[in-house]
Formats: sequence, structure tokens, C-alpha cells
Amino acid sequence: MKDEIIVQTKNLVRSFEFGETEVLALNGVDVDICKGEFACVLGPSGAGKTTLLNMIGGIDYPTKGFVIVDGDNISKYNKNELNDFRRNSVGWVFQFFNIVASLRAWENVGLALEFQGIKDKNQIKLRSYDMLKKVGLEGKELRFPSQLSGGEQQRVAIARALVKKPKIIVADEPTGNLDFITGQKIAELIKDLNKQEGTTLIVVSHDISITQFADRVFHLRMGKIEKIESQIESISYKKFRE
Ligand SMILES: Nc1ncnc2c1ncn2[C@@H]1O[C@H](COP(=O)(O)OP(=O)(O)O)[C@@H](O)[C@H]1O
Ligand SMILES: [Mg+2]
Repeated sequence: MKDEIIVQTKNLVRSFEFGETEVLALNGVDVDICKGEFACVLGPSGAGKTTLLNMIGGIDYPTKGFVIVDGDNISKYNKNELNDFRRNSVGWVFQFFNIVASLRAWENVGLALEFQGIKDKNQIKLRSYDMLKKVGLEGKELRFPSQLSGGEQQRVAIARALVKKPKIIVADEPTGNLDFITGQKIAELIKDLNKQEGTTLIVVSHDISITQFADRVFHLRMGKIEKIESQIESISYKKFRE
């Protein structure tokens, strides 16, 4: 079902007032992302990558235009609805991992389920352990973040994003704080999980080496999509544009 669109942005504009001046972080962005796709948004620092991801991942509202996720216009959501959307439908992965230092690996993963209102501790533990195994951390469930390497901490964050079975995973520079080899391993892991779990994945990065794993690469520059490169033939994008 690669052909089904799950994320669509329409003429997305986001401007920030900065004193007297106005910064146009996004200047009319149209993207369609298909279900199960691994999409990469590549661009230099300041291109608008984080701003775009914040719109899609339910952190911020556009100034103009809108974002549709799984048929719903999330730009029309009020704050509570947007919080619910983020909690239930989006898995976030950040550059600096953002895991809780005082919680063990499995508890960090379980937090995502607790936030969803799941109360059954056994279920939380089982699902967290299972997800940690999938990201290659079997046997390290009881460690605290300080007892894990950077790459392992990012694996915990990825498990936390995936465990709630979100509609989309969004990752902001997921390899940005890792050395090259560890970053490549994380990119490969993300790719494998994308294929195994069928989760739609949107990664933004300035790091070109991550693009080799993506199905499509959207080049973002100064708030605009410059070009789209497709790495696989099987998706018939054109039909969506017509
Ligand atoms: N909250 C904000 N207030 C003012 N300007 C902002 C804000 N967030 C982002 N910007 C500006 O918008 C542009 C795009 O930022 P960002 O999306 O963070 O880029 P990237 O993630 O590609 O590095 C930059 O010029 C940045 O300075
Ligand atoms: Mg950024």
C-alpha cells in the first residue's frame, strides 16, 4: 500500500516575527508522503527543516497553509487536540535523544505508553522490553542513560518513538550528535524498522549520508522544496501531483 498518502502539506508558510523584521522559515512547501515511506528532508542549517517537522509532528502551527495527516487537517486542531495527536499518532526522535536521565532504558520507553493512558504495568514492561530487543538493546533494559553510549541512547529514543505504534515517526537530525559510524548504524536501524514495522518515517537532516537509506529525498533550501529525488521506482508519485 505504498501509494496511499499519509502526510500532505499544502502551501505551508511559517513566518516568525523578530523585532521589526519577519523571518520566512517556510515559504510555500507542498509535500506528499506515502504510507510506509522513508522520506528524507535534506537541507543546510537554517533551511527550515525543524520548522517543517514541527508542523508535521504537531508541535507548531503554520502561518498559512495546512497539514493533513491520515485524512485529518491537524492545522485546524486546537491545542488539546494537537497534544493528543502528538501523544498518540507521532513518534518523535531528536538530535539530543531527549530521554530521561533518572529512568532506566525500559522505563523511558514505557513512558510513551503511560502518556497514552495505559495503566497495566506488566503490559508496559513487556512491550518496552520487546521494543528494546528490536532496536538491539536486549540485556540493557535496566541501564540508565548514563550507562549507555550515545548510539544506544538514541536506540532507546527510537524504541520510545516506535512502541506506541504511531502513524508517523519524525526525526530531527537523528544522527547529528553521533560519530559517523554510529550515525550510519542508527540510519540503518531506522531503515530496517521502517521496512519491518511499515511505519512512515520522515527524517530531516543536513547530513547527506543518511539519504542513501531513504526512498525519497526532498531538498529544502530557504524555506522551499528545490527538488525531489526518488530512489525507488515503485512509487508513482506523479499521479498525486496531477
Ligand atoms: N522561534 C523562532 N523565532 C525566530 N526565528 C526562527 C524561529 N525558529 C526558526 N527561526 C528561523 O527560521 C529559519 C529556519 O529555522 P529552522 O527550521 O530551525 O532551520 P533548520 O532546522 O533547517 O536548521 C532560520 O532562519 C531560523 O533562524
Ligand atoms: Mg534544525
